Amino acid sequence: MKTETTIQGLSASLSSARQSRKTIGFVPTMGNLHQGHLNLVREARKICDVVVVSIFVNPIQFGPNEDFDSYPRTLEQDSNLLADVGCDIIFAPSVEQMYGKNKRLTTISVSEITNDLCGAQRPGHFDGVAVVVTKLFNIVQPNFAFFGQKDYQQLAVIKQMVQDLNMPIEVIGVPITRAEDGLALSSRNGYLSEEHRATAPAIYKALKAAETDLKNGQALTDVLAQIRADLTAQGFEVDYVEARSPMLQTVEQFDQDVVLFVAAKLGKTRLIDNLQVSHSA
Ligand code: PAJ
Repeated sequence: MKTETTIQGLSASLSSARQSRKTIGFVPTMGNLHQGHLNLVREARKICDVVVVSIFVNPIQFGPNEDFDSYPRTLEQDSNLLADVGCDIIFAPSVEQMYGKNKRLTTISVSEITNDLCGAQRPGHFDGVAVVVTKLFNIVQPNFAFFGQKDYQQLAVIKQMVQDLNMPIEVIGVPITRAEDGLALSSRNGYLSEEHRATAPAIYKALKAAETDLKNGQALTDVLAQIRADLTAQGFEVDYVEARSPMLQTVEQFDQDVVLFVAAKLGKTRLIDNLQVSHSA
């Protein structure tokens, strides 16, 4: 496994793979890797000849009051984990390598589906993601790119962007990896106090209970209100509880497949989770 920190170095490392038409799989991350990230790499390993993982804490997707400076940077530990799951190349550029010295005048905005859910509380966040992912796609030029369903809205935004702009990349969504108690793995879980960590699995429990209630015929609005009440009673500060179609269109009732979304804070830590509930099964 190689680690490249420059665009030129990465291009050189990938040139023979490109010449021999090997398939390139790409997993973009911000590092501080856990099993959720590693499962994306394992998926890439299954179907691609060469697997590239980027580790880059992208400043332009963090809001002014968010955790850019304190976001955990653990490259050595990440490298060891990646070597074990068969990553071929780590791309770990500096901010300067990615953004250069000149002012950037181009932005990429996916409209409508970025306005609510996480977009409402994090203005500019998805533009920042769209820009960095486009830059990384242009640098790596992968055949396949892997994103987690944990960040369901992000995955939808990337799929939309790839379709709208004819990017020649197949985007693959990978199911959420959870801890044994159901908590969706996240780099931000490390911020939770012991007490909050013990409370956090309540989000997944509330989502699973909602799934049962929906399948038993309870009204969607009541089920969403129940999740909110449940979590609030357990000390969460709920940001949103919503239902959407798989393509993030609004839904009024459970008459089609829906995705249930929760964002809630425990102390200062904001947790997100979602659950797909199929109408047929
Ligand atoms: P990061 O938060 O590091 O996540 C990298 C990828 O890992 C994302 O596709 C995310 O959805 C996936 N992931 C994280 N936790 C997961 C879990 N428990 N189960 C499954 N997948 C999980 O998302 C980003 O970085 C950035 O926004 C990025 C796309 C790299 C652009 O900067």
